[in-house]
Amino acid sequence: MFEEAQYFAPIATQDDGSVVVELASSHPGFADPVYRARRNAIAGLAVNHRRGEPIPLAEYTEQEHEVWALVTRELGVKHRAYATAEYLAGVERLGLPRERIPQLQEVSELLEPLTGFRYLPAAGLVPLRDFYGVLADGYFHSTQYIRHHSVPFYTPEPDVVHEVIGHANALASDRYAALYRLAGQAARRVEGEEALEFVSKVFWFTLEFGVMREGGELRAYGAGILSSYGEIEEFRGMDIRPLDVAAMGTTHYDITKYQDVLFQADSLGHLEDVVGDFWATCDDDSIAKLVATSS
Ligand SMILES: [Fe+2]
Repeated sequence: MFEEAQYFAPIATQDDGSVVVELASSHPGFADPVYRARRNAIAGLAVNHRRGEPIPLAEYTEQEHEVWALVTRELGVKHRAYATAEYLAGVERLGLPRERIPQLQEVSELLEPLTGFRYLPAAGLVPLRDFYGVLADGYFHSTQYIRHHSVPFYTPEPDVVHEVIGHANALASDRYAALYRLAGQAARRVEGEEALEFVSKVFWFTLEFGVMREGGELRAYGAGILSSYGEIEEFRGMDIRPLDVAAMGTTHYDITKYQDVLFQADSLGHLEDVVGDFWATCDDDSIAKLVATSS
């Protein structure tokens, strides 16, 4: 899930308890009343869900299942060319359905025996501390809706394609899952909002948009790149910088366009040493020092 408030369609609960998703007029599904009704119903599932209960089934149309099948097929080709070996092993290990959108409950049931991670439904934006904090307990907040079928390779907001193809395949790897947990522990440990923001930016530049040298090539392991049909073709041409926690925690990013500054790990071990160790040990004081040295 992405963390910027403006990226998610706002959710409103009406006096009668019904849930309304306020899509922007530029959203591809804005003028489609059937899609909008489904978005409202799906958001209502998350609003009314209680942790520990099974995740309610979302209803999808045949067209939406076809979007999933098309995107799975096309991204699969690009993953073989551009994703890290550890992510590709996660794809094989998890075995997501290829022809229909999996229910989040099903994703949880595939994932939990592998790395202990379970999915939680999210209607939209989850506050940073909750979103990251529960990673420490092996929970991942996920939206449940899918992009509008008229534009299968585009979404203005993180949808189930991003959450499941991008994140669940990574969470099926023991080593990536361990990094997600460490990020959660860091988010729990820090007290100040600035330190939390720093922790979340390091997550952004690694588990969302991280790239890695592998076999002499640059490959992606970040869920944001690996779930984006356009971005996965572009990342090699971006401004690629060395892995540096202070730089990642203080670099500004614009969520509404392709990420043009990326940070490269030399290997998965390098990522674990630099970023894993940072999340395992950071606190408000150590982060304040990193901010001071980078300014
Ligand atoms: Fe994400």
